[in-house]
Amino acid sequence: MSSTITIPRPDDWHLHLRDGVMLRAVVPHSAQDFARAIIMPNLVPPVRTGADAAAYAERIQAAIPDGADFTPLMTLYLTETTDPDDVEAAFAAGVITALKLYPAGATTNSDAGVRNFANAHGVFERMEALGIPLLTHGEVTAPDIDIFDREARFIDDVLDPLRQRFPRLRVVMEHITTRDGADYVASAPEGLMGATITVQHLMLNRNHMLVGGVRPHYYCLPILKRSTHQDALLSAATSGNPRFFLGTDSAPHPTHLKENACGCAGVFSSPNALACLAQTFEDAGALDRFEGFVSRHGADFYGLPVNTSTLQLERVETPQPVPAPIIVGEETVTVFDPIRPIHWRVIR
Ligand code: DOR
Ligand code: ZN
Repeated sequence: MSSTITIPRPDDWHLHLRDGVMLRAVVPHSAQDFARAIIMPNLVPPVRTGADAAAYAERIQAAIPDGADFTPLMTLYLTETTDPDDVEAAFAAGVITALKLYPAGATTNSDAGVRNFANAHGVFERMEALGIPLLTHGEVTAPDIDIFDREARFIDDVLDPLRQRFPRLRVVMEHITTRDGADYVASAPEGLMGATITVQHLMLNRNHMLVGGVRPHYYCLPILKRSTHQDALLSAATSGNPRFFLGTDSAPHPTHLKENACGCAGVFSSPNALACLAQTFEDAGALDRFEGFVSRHGADFYGLPVNTSTLQLERVETPQPVPAPIIVGEETVTVFDPIRPIHWRVIR
């Protein structure tokens, strides 16, 4: 096996950068490996309008290290009062790439999300007409629905009815975690539906989080599922099916808020996502499919050119250590520990 692979520079199709001191600390870790990223809008308060998105994009630009090649692709946070005209204007001006749907209460900073989907039908109609992708946090939030069933229920109760009503609406099911999600996306028309998959959902299952003690750094939403679902995600990611592409969902929280009696949801994986994925694809005997998953399928879905610059990864004999926590002001953010030995590193 050759010890170096060269691929078009990857993109991250689902990323949380936050704001302020956290933004400035995490941006370099994405910018060093990824050319573009879809930026999640769940700030406090959320990125709701074209003007919000333009202002946030400027703050991100200011945090990109000199000489780095990184383009943030902005999204709006869909609420029940989102104005279709504002969406259209922001899209036409190239300020936004997509809208994010958070069912209210589904996850971190999702209180402003959608409760009554009928109130968003005007926006969906406009998005369908203009080809603007809807990115879904695919979980129902009803308190009586078990947390491990929330993705499957979202497909039946929300996503499928929505797609029946707006059949040309382009949808990305973000961070799928189940066989149900993978099967649903695989059965939908190519170009109309895609799905992002995170590094942690490909490498881990709920046993890694819960057996032998609770490991809060693996707590994220949607929550890790049983190993049969992990297997289904790995099959989808390594299948070469263009509907599936990388979205790290790297979501930094201060270490002390993860290691807490009520720990935050989110895994920070930007620094080692690609090395971990190269290992995952190698272990699955699918290194030849790695490039499609990290560098091609997402660009194709979004109608963007594959990056012409390249990134190199090198296979090394000695397993690479988990990157040290990053410093954010007085706090730290802990980096994803993939558990298994990682014999890949990005040549930077
Ligand atoms: O684990 C998660 N963390 N899932 C999400 O959907 C949001 C994210 C965050 O913003 O921390
Ligand atoms: Zn996310």
